[in-house]
Amino acid sequence: MKEQLKAIGEQADRALEKVQSLSELDQLRVSFLGKKGPLTALLKQMGSLPPEERPTMGQLANQMRQHIEEHIEARLAVLKALEIKKTFEAESVDVTLPGVKLPKGNLHPLNQVLDDMIDIFQSMGFDVVDGPEIETEYYNFEALNIPADHPARDMQDTFYVGDHLVLRSQTSAAQIRTMETRKPPIRVICPGRVFRADEVDATHSPVFHQIEGLVVDKGITMCDLKGCLEQVAREIYGPDAKIKFRPSFFPFTEPSVEVDVSCPECGGHGDSCRICKGTGWIEILGAGMVHPRVLAGCGIDPEEYTGFAFGIGLDRLTTTRYKISDIRLLFENDLRFLTQFDR
Ligand code: PHE
Repeated sequence: MKEQLKAIGEQADRALEKVQSLSELDQLRVSFLGKKGPLTALLKQMGSLPPEERPTMGQLANQMRQHIEEHIEARLAVLKALEIKKTFEAESVDVTLPGVKLPKGNLHPLNQVLDDMIDIFQSMGFDVVDGPEIETEYYNFEALNIPADHPARDMQDTFYVGDHLVLRSQTSAAQIRTMETRKPPIRVICPGRVFRADEVDATHSPVFHQIEGLVVDKGITMCDLKGCLEQVAREIYGPDAKIKFRPSFFPFTEPSVEVDVSCPECGGHGDSCRICKGTGWIEILGAGMVHPRVLAGCGIDPEEYTGFAFGIGLDRLTTTRYKISDIRLLFENDLRFLTQFDR
């Protein structure tokens, strides 16, 4: 029996040397020390020994079990260390390698110009307000002095999306919403998307952007409008920029003007300039003195208060600033185009 014990020990030692993984080691532990293992089998035969030999044999068997257990533990430590080393090697990072550059995004040119405009107006004391893109006919037209049967509705080819609901064709709707909720003095701009059923071409898009401006206070005159817009034009196009008022018509302003700025490309000379098409001027916005009927409709007494409003075309501002010849480029989201405006 002693011989058998010794053989089991040697067998275990040999097997242990070959073990390469923790799971193999587990299997080995079970097969040598488990209930069905050779050691247990041997102990079961103890009964057949003469009684005086049993304690010695029992002791030897226990020593052997201990011997195997210790060796298993030792192998376990070696395997664990190996495993850790392997993980470290697999996960190792060479900190001296050059980094992988992540592409950095940039703001869309429209948003860059919008951010600049917001800065300019905020520095002049304007608040920025927001309005819904789906508007009621009331805010988009009626409250702006454009009744349902008025031919002025044809000025804007409007998308109707439901009963008395439109995609706003102008940010002017925000004037009404503002005057309904704020008391004068009022000084706000409302930038946003507007929609008109226009055919797409180099200068038209069914979706474009406006920045609405509204100032209402005691004693506001057309001079304030001109001074304000002149200041804005200089901030955008430089100190030499000039503006020009042309008489125009909007149902919600009286008098109304269209405002041109001297062409930033040719400095106003025109000649064969492709940006202003030889005229020396670029139209950038519509404006005027808020119609007394519009003020009164919002509960503001036109005898006490006057105001001016303007609607700037953000897309035109952007195309002239960056000398972009086709408005469609602003909406096609071609990264080759957009990444040129990284600043
Ligand atoms: N809402 C007008 C348009 O879209 C522009 C405008 C705004 C005119 C404010 C006057 C005052 O054409």
